[in-house]
Amino acid sequence: MPARKTEDVPITDYHGALPRHVAIIMDGNGRWAKKRFMPRIVGHKAGVETVRTMVRHCAEKQIEVLTLFAFSSENWRRPEKEVNLLLELFVTALKREVKRLNENNVVLKIVGDRSAFPETLQQEIANAEATTSGNSGLKLVIAANYGGRWDIVQASRTLAEEVAAGKLDPSQIDEEALNRHLSLYGMPEPDLFIRTGGEERVSNFLLWQLAYCEMYFTETLWPDFDGDAFDAALNSFRKRQRRFGRTGEQVEQEQDA
Ligand code: IPE
Ligand code: IPE
Ligand code: MG
Repeated sequence: MPARKTEDVPITDYHGALPRHVAIIMDGNGRWAKKRFMPRIVGHKAGVETVRTMVRHCAEKQIEVLTLFAFSSENWRRPEKEVNLLLELFVTALKREVKRLNENNVVLKIVGDRSAFPETLQQEIANAEATTSGNSGLKLVIAANYGGRWDIVQASRTLAEEVAAGKLDPSQIDEEALNRHLSLYGMPEPDLFIRTGGEERVSNFLLWQLAYCEMYFTETLWPDFDGDAFDAALNSFRKRQRRFGRTGEQVEQEQDA
């Protein structure tokens, strides 16, 4: 079979080249608000609208998992007022959106150290997850008080506890054993990483899982990120050859087979 020319195929008809899992650092809310002489929280609120749009686009394109970085382990360093407003916004958005997400068959999962959150927020999170757990559509993962290093540390600690309890021999610790205790276990690995807002860094997002992920950076600020901007990222993704350590020739032979 001749290699399919991806440029000729409309993206909706080319599911094979669509990522199964998209992970996004939603950055640029503050600068979006600043450009409009408005408080940063206005940018965060506008950002929630973009989340809605993106959930709809991913569901329509039958992307399996969308992981969004909402609050990093390091974001506690922001002024207390902004942290509090962000937490409030998180609670309001959860309460407001969970019904709609459920109606749209979305499974919601929150990853990160939730023990640092106020009790009410922890309760909202548990409710939202329970309400949507039986759904079979898009998996929406929200990373909140999440850090890639935290994730690896908590997984390592669990392994150490298993060893201490005599349930696991250190020789059994391999990549799969550690992966089993990471927050995204059971989901396909992220294929496409998107960071909006112009910075080209990972900022302690999914460190383990990004090992072979395709990276895409855009200047577009998160509240301005829309369906066309997302399609541009998907188009960039489908033009790439993912080699996973092999040669380009090997990959081409496999595609032609
Ligand atoms: C991302 O936008 C949202 C969070 C980190 C919560 P920022 O708030 O970082 O926006 P900029 O980078 O200051 O523009
Ligand atoms: C990363 O954005 C975290 C989230 C989007 C939640 P930041 O704006 O906090 O990242 P840095 O500090 O500029 O690297
Ligand atoms: Mg930022």
